[in-house]
Amino acid sequence: MSTSLYAARRARVAAQLGAGGIAMIPTAPERSRNRDSEFLFRHDSYFYYLSGFTEPNAWLVITGDGRSTLFCQPKDLEREIWDGIRLGPDAAPSHLGVDAAFSVAELDQRLPKLLENKATVWYPFATHKGLETRVDGWLNAVRARVRYGALCPQAQHDLCALLDEMRLIKDAHEQALMRRAAQISAGAHIRAMQRCAAMLRAGQDVREYHLDAELLHEFRQGGSQYPAYGSIVAAGANACVLHYRADTAPIRAGELVLIDAGCELDGYASDITRTFPANGRFSGAQRALYDLVLASQDAAIAATKPGARFTDPHEATVKVLTQGMLDLGLLDRDQHGTLDDAIHHRHYFAHYMHRTGHWLGMDVHDCGSYVEPTEVGQTHERKDPLSGETITDRPSRILRPGMALTIEPGLYVRPSDRIPKEFWNIGIRIEDDAFVTETGCELITRGVPVKADEIEALMRG
Ligand code: GLY
Ligand code: MN
Ligand code: MN
Repeated sequence: MSTSLYAARRARVAAQLGAGGIAMIPTAPERSRNRDSEFLFRHDSYFYYLSGFTEPNAWLVITGDGRSTLFCQPKDLEREIWDGIRLGPDAAPSHLGVDAAFSVAELDQRLPKLLENKATVWYPFATHKGLETRVDGWLNAVRARVRYGALCPQAQHDLCALLDEMRLIKDAHEQALMRRAAQISAGAHIRAMQRCAAMLRAGQDVREYHLDAELLHEFRQGGSQYPAYGSIVAAGANACVLHYRADTAPIRAGELVLIDAGCELDGYASDITRTFPANGRFSGAQRALYDLVLASQDAAIAATKPGARFTDPHEATVKVLTQGMLDLGLLDRDQHGTLDDAIHHRHYFAHYMHRTGHWLGMDVHDCGSYVEPTEVGQTHERKDPLSGETITDRPSRILRPGMALTIEPGLYVRPSDRIPKEFWNIGIRIEDDAFVTETGCELITRGVPVKADEIEALMRG
C-alpha cells in the first residue's frame, strides 16, 4: 500500500489544525445483526481517507505538529483465529506510515496526555454515537491536572467541515478508482439488460431478484467488495417508487425495468441508473418519455462545467422536462399555463420530485457543502410555492475541476384521469457519474449505453 498518499492528506489536515490543534477520529463501529452475527463491517470514510486502514476498532489522532498516532486492535492469536489477521500496533508505523501506534485498549489512558497543553480539539460532530461523551471524559482528565500546570483545550471544532472540503476535490488516485468502479458497474448493467431479454426470449420466469443477482455477480467478478448501496431493480410501476429495492416482482415483456445500482471498489462508490424495455423494444409512449429524460440529461451535462453552480444542471433539467410534460400532456396547459408558470409554481414536481444530482465519492451521497463557502452570508428568503414554507436560499456551490457528481434526471407517472393512459405507471431515470474537468465534464459511466436505439441493439445481442 502506498502510505505517502495518506501521509500527505494527514499533513494537509495538520497544517489546518494550527500549532495547538489536535484531531481525533474513530473508524465505524461494528454492528450486531443478531446474537453473535454482525453486519458486514464497513470502515468510516473519513477515517479511511486519512489512514487507508480497514480494520474495525481503530482511532487516528493527528496533531498540529504533523504527528499522527494510530490506536488499533492488538495482536491476539485466539481472536485472529476466529476473525482474521490483525495488523497490530508494532507493524502499523511501517505499514501505514503513522508516527506511532498503540493498542486501542490504551486509548483512555493516552488521549488525556495527547490533549494536554493543546488549544483546540477537532473531531467529527454528530457522526459517532457517544463520541462527544468520550471527548468530555478525556478533557475532564486533563482538567484534573490543571493545578499541576496542565493547560486544557478551550475550543472544539467539527473535523467533518475541514475534511469535507478536502474530500470534495478528488485526487488522481481517487479518480482512477472511481473510473474503475464506474466501469465495473457499467458492465453489470449491460449484463442485467442482456440477461433480462435472453431469459424472456427463452420463456423463463424473470423476477427482479434475478437481475439483482446478475449485478452482484458482475460487481464481485470485477473485484468490487460490495454494492455501494442497496440495488434498485424495479419492474413496471415499481419504478415510480424512488427507494424501491430489488424484490420478487415478475418482469414482463412490454414493461420497463429501472435499475439503479453501482458497486463500491476499494472504498469508492459508483451510482448508475438505466431504464430499459424488459424485452428489448420500447413502445411508442415509453420511447417518448425516455427520449425526453435523455434530452433533459443532455441539458444537465452541458450545464456541468467549471464556474457553473451546482444547481445549474438541475435547472437545465427542469426546463427541458417541464416543457416535455406540457408537450406530451402530462401537464395540462390550460391548468398549468406557460413553461415559466409551471416551473415557478413547481407543477413539474408531480412527475419529477428529486434533485438532478449529488456529490459522489467514498459515500454514494458524498460529503461536501452544496453552498459556496465564500458566499454563505448572502441569503435570500422566498416562499415555496408548494408548501408555503419560507426557505432561506444561499448561493449554490461553484463547480470546480476534480469535483465528482451524478447527473440523474427522471420522470415518474402515476395513474391519473388527467394524463393519457399510455403513460401510466412509467418510471424512468437515467443516471451517470461525472468529474468536473477544466473545460466541462467527463462522464465515467458511459460504458453502458444510454441512447434508446443503442439499448435496443444491446438487448438484441
Ligand atoms: N442510488 C442513489 C441515488 O441515485 O442517489
Ligand atoms: Mn445518485
Ligand atoms: Mn442511483
